[in-house]
Amino acid sequence: MADMESANTNTLKNLGLLLVVGITALFILLFLFFYYSGPSRAFGPEQPIPFSHNVHSGVKQIQCQYCHPYVAYSNWPGLPPVEKCLHCHNYIIAKHPWIQKEHQYFDTNTPTPWKKVNYVAEHVLFNHQRHINRNLSCQECHGQVQNLHRLPHKHWYMEDCITCHRRMNANMDCWLACHS
Ligand code: HEC
Ligand code: HEC
Ligand code: HEC
Ligand code: HEC
Repeated sequence: MADMESANTNTLKNLGLLLVVGITALFILLFLFFYYSGPSRAFGPEQPIPFSHNVHSGVKQIQCQYCHPYVAYSNWPGLPPVEKCLHCHNYIIAKHPWIQKEHQYFDTNTPTPWKKVNYVAEHVLFNHQRHINRNLSCQECHGQVQNLHRLPHKHWYMEDCITCHRRMNANMDCWLACHS
């Protein structure tokens, strides 16, 4: 009798263990599935105002350089100050809640805390000027920005630079040219 009982509790224990392992495995699989297949990975960080490049540059055809005016001249392409948004939005959808938020930034003299999405390592010297002067389009490096509502993260690796430099016969002496 006692033997039977302990055998039973053993099978129960084994069943319990199996269940725990099974459920854990299921969670891991589900996690991997959503992590890799979910659209969320295609998006960058949520921005303080859900600014859409698609609405502005795709539908309304506003030029990139209207908002990023220094891209060809300085190391800092410039994100538009809120004044620039309000040039239009004092008249266009002025009562929209997001536009009210722009007014808050403006009234309190707070720069809009946009989250950066492009990264190069700190020791890399990148500047737009040489590239724009060679008539590379923005899309060549940033993709079809005008089709996107939210911009994705992009970490630039040396390989990304090298692949194009090789293709276009640009300077490959990167230790001199690109690294500080
Ligand atoms: C040259 C004019 C212009 C400038 C500059 C401009 N916008 Fe817009 N914006 C528009 C137009 C046009 C629409 C579409 C309005 C509509 O739906 O009728 C729009 C729509 C929007 C919307 C509505 C939500 C959406 O995506 O449809 C938000 C939010 C917005 N703009 C934020 C901004 C911010 C933030 C800036 C500054 C970085 C900015 N806009 C600069 C013209 C402009
Ligand atoms: C109406 C203003 C406006 C126009 C027009 C516009 N942008 Fe932007 N852009 C912004 C704002 C605001 C941000 C910061 C918020 C964000 O990342 O969406 C930004 C961010 C970016 C970034 C990412 C910056 C980072 O954090 O690394 C890139 C790249 C960019 N824009 C490229 C373009 C290109 C290419 C075009 C033309 C197809 C364009 N933009 C047109 C306002 C504009
Ligand atoms: C040769 C590739 C290349 C081209 C062409 C290019 N960019 Fe960039 N862009 C980059 C890289 C790399 C970064 C990240 C630089 C950094 O973080 O210092 C960047 C960053 C930016 C940023 C963010 C700036 C910041 O400091 O956060 C904006 C805005 C931008 N680009 C706009 C544009 C626009 C507009 C054009 C077209 C007129 C353009 N880019 C063309 C490679 C390119
Ligand atoms: C889409 C193509 C492309 C990509 C991507 C690209 N480059 Fe370039 N780059 C060029 C071309 C073409 C030139 C040559 C411009 C000229 O002839 O003046 C150039 C020139 C340069 C120069 C000037 C070299 C010299 O002759 O002194 C530097 C520095 C540079 N790139 C750095 C970078 C870095 C760093 C990255 C990656 C973050 C990068 N580039 C990504 C195409 C690209």
